[in-house]
Amino acid sequence: MAKQLWNKGFEPDQIIENFTVGNDRDLDMRLARYDVQGSVAHIKMLESIGLLTKDELDELLPALEEIAESIERGEFKIEEGIEDVHSQVEFLLTAKLGDVGKKIHSGRSRNDQVLVDLKLFFREELKNMAAAVDRLFRRLQQLSEEHKDKLMPGYTHLQVAMPSSFGLWFGAYAESLTDDMQMLLAAYNISNQNPLGSAAGYGSSFPLDRELTTKLLCFSDLHYNVVAAQMSRGKTEKAVAAAVAAVASTLGHLAMDVCMWMCSNFGFVKFPDELTTGSSIMPHKKNPDVFEIMRGKCNRLQSLPNELTILTANLPLGYNRDLQLMKDIMFPATTDLISCLDMAEYMLSHIEVKNGILDDPRYDYIFTVEDVNKMVLQGVPFRDAYRNVGMSVQDGTYSPSREVRHTHIGSIGNPANDRIAAKMQSLLSKFE
Ligand code: ARG
Repeated sequence: MAKQLWNKGFEPDQIIENFTVGNDRDLDMRLARYDVQGSVAHIKMLESIGLLTKDELDELLPALEEIAESIERGEFKIEEGIEDVHSQVEFLLTAKLGDVGKKIHSGRSRNDQVLVDLKLFFREELKNMAAAVDRLFRRLQQLSEEHKDKLMPGYTHLQVAMPSSFGLWFGAYAESLTDDMQMLLAAYNISNQNPLGSAAGYGSSFPLDRELTTKLLCFSDLHYNVVAAQMSRGKTEKAVAAAVAAVASTLGHLAMDVCMWMCSNFGFVKFPDELTTGSSIMPHKKNPDVFEIMRGKCNRLQSLPNELTILTANLPLGYNRDLQLMKDIMFPATTDLISCLDMAEYMLSHIEVKNGILDDPRYDYIFTVEDVNKMVLQGVPFRDAYRNVGMSVQDGTYSPSREVRHTHIGSIGNPANDRIAAKMQSLLSKFE
């Protein structure tokens, strides 16, 4: 027999239950610990406004603590016939404590309960993602310093353009991640607001102390307006999705570069054999499958904001069950992103880069701007120097000086990695 919290005397059709619940029970498992945290704060607040006695609170808190421990031990289950994590926690309490267990739902709804669970969940996941971004960031910065002096071609239009360096290449992705960190931080700040007390989305006639639950759950602020609190379902996810997509865009781009630089026509980077993959027919192959899977996953992650937008477009104000489906989009995404970031860090810790790439005559023209600039420094107007070098390329007499002297901030000779590290540090310090 199904055991809905909302059972009021008739037996709901099992087919309806299966369709509406779907895989929500599995997804809800990731919310379990936050559901208990939310309940702990809620009942402390209920006691403070006289809706629970001190004795009742003293009975409920250890029982919730026990559930929290079973969750951490991996023993907690959402049983067959129980709709979701919120119902499971309440059923466990009622089974253990009888009527006291039934009292905890005063002044709340599963609508604000799932909201608060999601806020706490995303807050934690955003911290985890920020930490994974930071791990990759550090690796990139270390590689940038280590390979500061190794030159490589810079391309525009995929044509050989100007000298670049491994220091710039690695360092570019590190700095790019600082922009993505801003997005993670914005999503974190949006997630760090308390929706609890909005109940079904319109508040409650009980004098709920929403400031107390805000403090107990360590939220930095409240979603004050109860309707706005309910509206934040979907908006929070979109903020997180935008941040995930930003990181994925950087990482996907890096993965593409690695695939290309690993191509035997370039041969700029390589990895130990055991980090490459083979072919079932071509005995010589050492393939970059890791970076291809990473590229593919990152491309998929970039569709998250779009998926959420389409799922929530034109929903009427207030709670609608469609919102449940966002969990299915967002939960695997944060895990995927962290695994891609950590894989990138692992692979890069083994990367080997090629020395002396620009000594190859195929890159001779990469030095034309250097030579134009040298003439400018000797007093030749830029346009004349440009034409001069251009003519020598045209008639085949150009011979490169191969001298690269870039000194301004952010250039080959002065990649400013310390400044970039400070930028990242200041962002990281804003996550509690
Ligand atoms: N599983 C539901 C969700 O994620 C929980 C809230 C249910 N609320 C309701 N009014 N049916 O949205």
